[in-house]
Amino acid sequence: MDFSIKAFSTKNGISQHKTGCAVVGVYDNGKLSAEAKALDDGGALSAAVKSGDITGKAGSTLLLRATGSAQRVLLAGLGAEGAVTDRNFVATAQAVARALSTLGCADALLALPLDAAGGRDAHWGLRTLVTALRESIFRSDALKSKKDESKSGVRKVTVATADAQQAETRRVLAQAVALANGADLAKTLGNLPPNICTPTYLATTAKQLAKEFKLGVEVLDRKQLEALKMGSFLSVTNGSVQPPKFIVLKHLGGKAKDAPVVLVGKGITFDTGGISLKPGAGMDEMKYDMCGAASVLGTFRAIAEMQLKLNVIGVIPACENMPSGSATRPGDIVTSMSGQTIEILNTDAEGRLILCDALTYVERFKPAAVVDIATLTGACVTALGHHNSGLFTRHDDAHDVLASELLAAGKSANDTAWRMPIEEPYQEQLKSNFADIANIGGPPGGSITAACFLERFTRKYTWAHLDIAGTAWKSGVAKGATGRPVPLLTSFLIGRAGK
Ligand code: BES
Ligand code: MN
Ligand code: ZN
Repeated sequence: MDFSIKAFSTKNGISQHKTGCAVVGVYDNGKLSAEAKALDDGGALSAAVKSGDITGKAGSTLLLRATGSAQRVLLAGLGAEGAVTDRNFVATAQAVARALSTLGCADALLALPLDAAGGRDAHWGLRTLVTALRESIFRSDALKSKKDESKSGVRKVTVATADAQQAETRRVLAQAVALANGADLAKTLGNLPPNICTPTYLATTAKQLAKEFKLGVEVLDRKQLEALKMGSFLSVTNGSVQPPKFIVLKHLGGKAKDAPVVLVGKGITFDTGGISLKPGAGMDEMKYDMCGAASVLGTFRAIAEMQLKLNVIGVIPACENMPSGSATRPGDIVTSMSGQTIEILNTDAEGRLILCDALTYVERFKPAAVVDIATLTGACVTALGHHNSGLFTRHDDAHDVLASELLAAGKSANDTAWRMPIEEPYQEQLKSNFADIANIGGPPGGSITAACFLERFTRKYTWAHLDIAGTAWKSGVAKGATGRPVPLLTSFLIGRAGK
């Protein structure tokens, strides 16, 4: 989808602009927005509202054939005038995107009152629209022999803006498009089947990204991981014939002396549970167990395209969790890179086993902050459902600052997280009779004890953990990766870069 910006002054009104479809708004009190009024020459729009064909409720749309320079007008409900809420505007944006995706024209002019949208910041509305438009045309039909043509529709979108805002709007639009490109990459990788999206495939994707955007990249193989003494990570890959990969990506857009932000993504390309085998029903969804890794790659895609002025390092431990004669057993004790010994009481709690070694590895970067992203626990889905990712940090001043940055980034990107506690009493659930720590803490507070496990490997820097088990993909008829939390992470990094 191509996006462009066009400034309209009062003289050069939107009614002069030739387009397949002009999109304008109406409030739920029946009032047309200023842009809609400008197109209401013959009174067709006000007549449609008067006759009750559209109420102005957020999420409603009405398509009219037009006779002016716009061939069609899409009237979109905005909700209450002067009080367009975030939820309402998201509904409006999604309804507009859906309507445009079914039209027979190739281009559209978006003339919605964007600055009135949402309470966040001046550009929230534009970002929300671009996200909705890009989501509406996203497909996962690479492996279908017949492609889905129903989503062709509008390919070229012009956004109407006031003259004075043109440069700023252009910058925000470019960022929104880069973010959508990153989210699309994360979705595409998530949706790929586990026989294609292997650890090697993730490594190849990282190398391709590095080549295209001039990023630093390094992929460590089994021998190098053995030399680093990553006994915990390596124990998870024991049952698999797929070679493990440890991916390091570097976007060094900041000053050389600036400490980097490090993102660590869980890259289990398929999680059978290992010897602690998962039940069969729905096990296919464990191909999504690399969505943390995909979100790191997606975020790098986004910040690289934006040329973000910040040093960011991405680290992805990638492997498969399979049962076999060589697989790790419940009861095995392994030594992590940190030196701490781990009693593996359940081989299905493997995410923390690969992440702990990655979290030790990243100490070498002397990070400003480390954020790990993982589809870590079913318990997080029980706790928070599918709307919020779980956010875990220690509870001191530095971590409170990092937590509030991440929470705010989530809100501004419509990709929210909710903070959960990590407190000492939960740590006691991880006691082992035979090793320094057990890899499970029992059913109570399962997402918290998982975070507590990770916490023990992060004491040398400021750290946050995002459990995205409930937010990274959807099940059921709409089964598919969501691209989350690429928007949250990208928005957080934009904030860190001060732009
Ligand atoms: N990848 C899963 C977590 C998961 C489960 C994500 C369901 C989304 C939906 C993880 O590796 C896992 O299996 N966790 C176990 C931990 C338990 C054994 C302590 C879980 O959540 O059941
Ligand atoms: Mn598991
Ligand atoms: Zn897993």
